[in-house]
Amino acid sequence: PKAKAKGKAKAKAKKVDKVGAAKLDWPSLGFNYVKTKSHIRFVYKDGKWSKGKLYTDPFMPVHMLANVFHYGQALFEGFKGFHTKEGDVCLFADKLSLGRMNHGCRRFMMPEVPVEIWDEAVQIVVKDNAKYVPPYGSGGALYVRPFIFGSGPKLGLGPSEEYTFVVFANPVGSYYKAAEGMQGVEALVTDHYDRAAPLGCGDCKAAGNYAADLESMYEAKKKGFPISLYLDAKERRYVEEFNTSNFVGITKDGKYITPDAARSVLNSNTNKVLTQLAADMGITVERRRIDFAAEVDTFTEVGAVGTAVVVTPIKSLTRGDQVWNFGQPEGPGHPAGRGGRSAWLDDQGEDGLGASSFEAS
Ligand code: COI
Repeated sequence: PKAKAKGKAKAKAKKVDKVGAAKLDWPSLGFNYVKTKSHIRFVYKDGKWSKGKLYTDPFMPVHMLANVFHYGQALFEGFKGFHTKEGDVCLFADKLSLGRMNHGCRRFMMPEVPVEIWDEAVQIVVKDNAKYVPPYGSGGALYVRPFIFGSGPKLGLGPSEEYTFVVFANPVGSYYKAAEGMQGVEALVTDHYDRAAPLGCGDCKAAGNYAADLESMYEAKKKGFPISLYLDAKERRYVEEFNTSNFVGITKDGKYITPDAARSVLNSNTNKVLTQLAADMGITVERRRIDFAAEVDTFTEVGAVGTAVVVTPIKSLTRGDQVWNFGQPEGPGHPAGRGGRSAWLDDQGEDGLGASSFEAS
């Protein structure tokens, strides 16, 4: 029950485990499941949410006719928690995840998650699993994964009469091994699959969007590309997004360009924060349609951005027998690649804050 769970969380908060107490091999973490201590669940039924309950068993009993298994009523989220130097845990933009989940809930006819439930769930789970937050400087993070699904039995097509909202946490490192040290990955532009229809649900973090993505991703992997890029479904002309993440291109004249497609591209929280930072730094940000063939040559750097992949440099894009290379062997943002960036960083001091202008070249 809520009171008990809250009481428990408070008790835990007083004796949150020491930094790194889980004693994992922190620098070797990839993006893999690690069994942590607990997760929390809330159930929505008869128009109201239950109190939250913490569970240590990662298995949960779900009715075989639950809507999620047949009609795919399911959304998930992801954001990260990091240790500060002082040993506190900070969460990165979790409320953007709540907003995006509730956007999906409206689209999928599911009940929205109230902010009080979200906050309670996140606080309790992060505190109870604090020993799994990778230590400061280890390169890892605690990935927090909230999800909601239709858990009530349903034979005919319709929204479920019961929903389960779950939050669990999992320590992670780099998503793409090849991106470690910011070396970058090679991407394939797919002409054989669409990710989302123009008026579909590509803007929702729906579980089914990722199931539909698997075959395309594995086709690319078989050809040696860890990641593939989708173009728009209608004309196969405009850039949409990667399997796992948003597309960002930095033009030779220093602009930050990212696709705009309200109903078919996921509204990445990382991209949202980066566009804000870029704008604050005086970089021109354009969120608009990107005509692949006409514009791919204008980019000096390309990145895949998202919670899991963070900012993964894209070394090259391959479409058919054409290949475009980006960045420099020295790495992303190197003066040879962008011109002016390191000079700009020098001006900003160690933390790179306080920017008011950006010189592209
Ligand atoms: C995330 O970035 O949080 C995601 O959910 C992407 C997923 C493919 C791991």
